[in-house]
Amino acid sequence: MKNLDLVIRGGEVITASDHARADVGVRDGKIVAVGIGLPKGKREIDARGLIVMPGGIDSHVHLAQPSAEGTVMADGFESGTRSAIAGGNTTVIPFALQSRGMSLRDAVADYHRKADGQAYCDYGFHIILTDPTPEALGQELPALVSRGYTSIKVFMTYDDMVLNDRELLEVFDAAGDCGALVMVHCEGYDAIRFMTEKLEKAGKISPYYHAVSRPEAVEREAAHRAISHAEITGVPIMIVHVSGREAMEQIRWARNRGLRIMGETCPQYVSLSADDLKGLNMDDTGSKYVCSPPPRDPESWAAIWSGIQTGVFQTFSSDHCPFYFEGKLGKKSAAARSSFRWVPNGIPGVAVRMPLLWSEGVMKGRISPNEFVALTSTNHARIYGLAQKGSIAPGFDADLTLWDPKRKITITQSLMEHGADYTPWEGVEVTGWPAMTILRGEIMMRDGEVLGNPTMGNFLPREISNEALRARESGDPF
Ligand code: URP
Ligand code: ZN
Ligand code: ZN
Ligand code: ZN
Repeated sequence: MKNLDLVIRGGEVITASDHARADVGVRDGKIVAVGIGLPKGKREIDARGLIVMPGGIDSHVHLAQPSAEGTVMADGFESGTRSAIAGGNTTVIPFALQSRGMSLRDAVADYHRKADGQAYCDYGFHIILTDPTPEALGQELPALVSRGYTSIKVFMTYDDMVLNDRELLEVFDAAGDCGALVMVHCEGYDAIRFMTEKLEKAGKISPYYHAVSRPEAVEREAAHRAISHAEITGVPIMIVHVSGREAMEQIRWARNRGLRIMGETCPQYVSLSADDLKGLNMDDTGSKYVCSPPPRDPESWAAIWSGIQTGVFQTFSSDHCPFYFEGKLGKKSAAARSSFRWVPNGIPGVAVRMPLLWSEGVMKGRISPNEFVALTSTNHARIYGLAQKGSIAPGFDADLTLWDPKRKITITQSLMEHGADYTPWEGVEVTGWPAMTILRGEIMMRDGEVLGNPTMGNFLPREISNEALRARESGDPF
């Protein structure tokens, strides 16, 4: 094993299944050897005292996506992927949004223009499908899947994105036919509208009422409906950003029945609460925490942990969806200040996803380091068709995070490297922080300093998800 470009020496190598003290040898951006006593490389990194794990893969981030209210997102690809790198990630999968009336092809081209030459880490795209025309489902989607856009997201709420039940069934069926994995935002549109209008009439308009307008029953009901549609059409689905016990129990129930229903949860659902949204008026900090589904409460965090520990959730993603605090307050728009309804939904979190899970999960004995790797990297790669990512073995991309498991950090805005002007976790203390992020053998971050440049991230066409393939093998009902 000669001519190594890079040897990462003496770390504790941890994957989703194994751990061993070993050196990792890299050539041409690929891992070519893992073992003890590798020969000297052109570059050497001393990893003693550190964990060497596959680079984080965050399969749920929003970059350069306009909000329905017209608010500009705080991160484009440059700052968003920079923040990802700062947090130990080497791949993100953001969304290409199809606005109604737009073709899927144009949506994808639009986001390529936004990302080209602007990414510090590798990236793929899920397609947000809002206009399920026969052309989009019958022609465009299969063509895009064959070009590596192998997952879509659909919404059961939001005026400009919601699909009705008939549309959901048509989309699920079409996705099953061509192998696209469907991610579903499960919150019921009618119930949210009903609650919102009642609250507004009662003068309850401050950010806290965002949480009141979307109780767990709203998420549970939609999750159950999505699961039923998935069963009818015989397709696997991923229920994203699950916030609490109710929707989690639906996924558990479905999995126990043998349905291919997967679940994703996020840091906000084990660490933030509806109380964080409390404030007397629109000027309070409550809007900093407005996201959907809303954060719940400590009892709900415990339920989510049980779902993480028992395999209900396969992925732990950030749902990074950053807006400026000022934008959230709607200082520039009277309408936006008139009700929680107009506060853009979403919070920034790509840089803190891994530290929060390590600190609350591994350090508190809730999950093992191997499970941490599965939840933050390997499962994302397998579920979303990134065959070359998510493990440490010869042939894989040399995407590595050198993790300092005992490093104590107080989270603060200046560490985030994102475009937003705040972090919801300001002042939170964590144990465990990335010391170095390596993308295809290149050091992109060392001790908090982002090196590299935004032309180094590559677009990743993805394979059809294992889950979608297996579902197709068991036969298409239609
Ligand atoms: O509040 C959130 N999560 N906004 C982002 C869009 C979404 O639904 O994932
Ligand atoms: Zn969503
Ligand atoms: Zn999202
Ligand atoms: Zn079909």
